[in-house]
Amino acid sequence: MTVYLNGQFLALEDAKVSVLDRGFIYGDGVYELVPVYGRRPYRLQQHLARLKRSLAGIRLTNPHTDAEWEAIISELIGRMPFADQGVYFQVTRGVAKRDHAFPAGVAPTVFMMSNPLVLPSHEQIERGVAVVTAVDERWLHCDLKTISLLGNVLARQLAADAGATETVLFRNGYLTEASASNVLLVRNGVIVAPPKDNQILPGITYDVAFELAREGGLPIEVRPVSKDEALAADEMWLSSSTKEVLAVTALDGRPFYGGKPGPVFRKVHALFQASKTA
Ligand SMILES: Cc1ncc(COP(=O)(O)O)c(C=O)c1O
Repeated sequence: MTVYLNGQFLALEDAKVSVLDRGFIYGDGVYELVPVYGRRPYRLQQHLARLKRSLAGIRLTNPHTDAEWEAIISELIGRMPFADQGVYFQVTRGVAKRDHAFPAGVAPTVFMMSNPLVLPSHEQIERGVAVVTAVDERWLHCDLKTISLLGNVLARQLAADAGATETVLFRNGYLTEASASNVLLVRNGVIVAPPKDNQILPGITYDVAFELAREGGLPIEVRPVSKDEALAADEMWLSSSTKEVLAVTALDGRPFYGGKPGPVFRKVHALFQASKTA
């Protein structure tokens, strides 16, 4: 498998980073994951805009222009033997003697790889998936897509331990998001989701879901959602670049609402599938 590291396309085995890289030592970096359908990156501009926002949020200079990012991504996509891909890339603050404060004059480390895009199975789409719930114990910059993911990793493991797909998080009694997805709800036919503040990642799929819902004439509300309200919702969905939109049909070991994906989910899921080839 070919990967990209600091200006070069290399075999995965030959791509080496120093143990002093601040990504390794501090988790000091940001990342993106862009889904690719039929060799075409989906919503690339939005992902590059979010990357810029994350970089600015950790005070790291963007090492590439959008045109350069696009060229590297497209070169890597072309080198992969599969059509549907997940392009992962990260930028760290580079290699320096260990000291918390930013090093001066250090080049960032840029790494990119592309894996086959593993989408939800037919069964997961048709039957929905199980989630567990937990308290959101992460920091207060969840809007930045940083590689410091320990809080998300620990949350996600709770789902793995329970044989569930995701862990849905609540902070101070309010819904934030899940360990690697956004969470949207349906109440009385209205799609409801928490606002894109500092407590959640501004998901590209979350935006797409709202955009498609708007175009499809479905009512939408963006506002804080209490845990009680979330648990009483008619439908709950996960959204992410690899899950697309996925219905939640079991929560903490009990069937969620009807125990099967709801009608609003089916509409938005169909609109999403159509948007992939539009
Ligand atoms: C914590 C978290 N929230 C939300 C998302 C969904 O973002 P996107 O739709 O851009 O993939 C992700 C994606 O990996 C995530 O890690």
